[in-house]
Amino acid sequence: MFNLSDRDLCRSILGCSDGPAGFNAHMHALGHPVISCDPLYQYSHDQIGCSIRAARDEVMQQVRENPQNFTWNHIRTPSELEQVRMTAMQSFLADYEAGLMQGRYIAGALPRLPFRDQSFDLGLCSHFLFLYNSLGQEFHLRSIREMARVAREVRIYPVVNTNGERAEFFEELLCRIRSSGLGARTEPAGYDFLKNGGEMLRITGE
Ligand SMILES: C[S@@+](CC[C@H](N)C(=O)[O-])C[C@H]1O[C@@H](n2cnc3c(N)ncnc32)[C@H](O)[C@@H]1O
Repeated sequence: MFNLSDRDLCRSILGCSDGPAGFNAHMHALGHPVISCDPLYQYSHDQIGCSIRAARDEVMQQVRENPQNFTWNHIRTPSELEQVRMTAMQSFLADYEAGLMQGRYIAGALPRLPFRDQSFDLGLCSHFLFLYNSLGQEFHLRSIREMARVAREVRIYPVVNTNGERAEFFEELLCRIRSSGLGARTEPAGYDFLKNGGEMLRITGE
């Protein structure tokens, strides 16, 4: 999703909106600890486990009812998707309590993150910004500036919503980001699952 190079993996990384995904657990196992920040982490292991089980059928029903929203290139079927996602969530849950104690999972929410300026080399955000149009342009602008405050470089994936559409404010938002002295450009992500979801947004300090 983020064109991460081997060199990137050795940088200090913030995973914003990481949720119940396996990125943090996987990176920890590889010996490259990252910090994940998400409002979900105010909840306990058992509370998150319950909500994952409760959401599972509803999410899969939505996928099965809207297969046209996905490319099915990397993941071939809804059943495979369910297996991949549940495996990632199990990795997360198995790692969560240790990660909380080690400070790898930190509760916090955009547009205000609980970190000092330039705490990280790289800030990543997947499947939150741009996915929900209802968050609006101002929330996106504040959130992206905030991520750029805490990380020297920011990458966001995807840049379309769940219907595979760019927000109508997308180009104006990029202009406003650039006006605030940051670089902003889209580029191929090397991955797509959502329809039209083959691009990420890279934000750099200038
Ligand atoms: C669809 S999940 C994506 C999880 C993971 N990044 C992935 O790609 O599988 C969206 C995540 O955004 C988190 N979220 C909701 N509101 C947020 C906010 N204001 N700031 C940061 N994250 C938020 C949710 O808790 C959830 O974990």
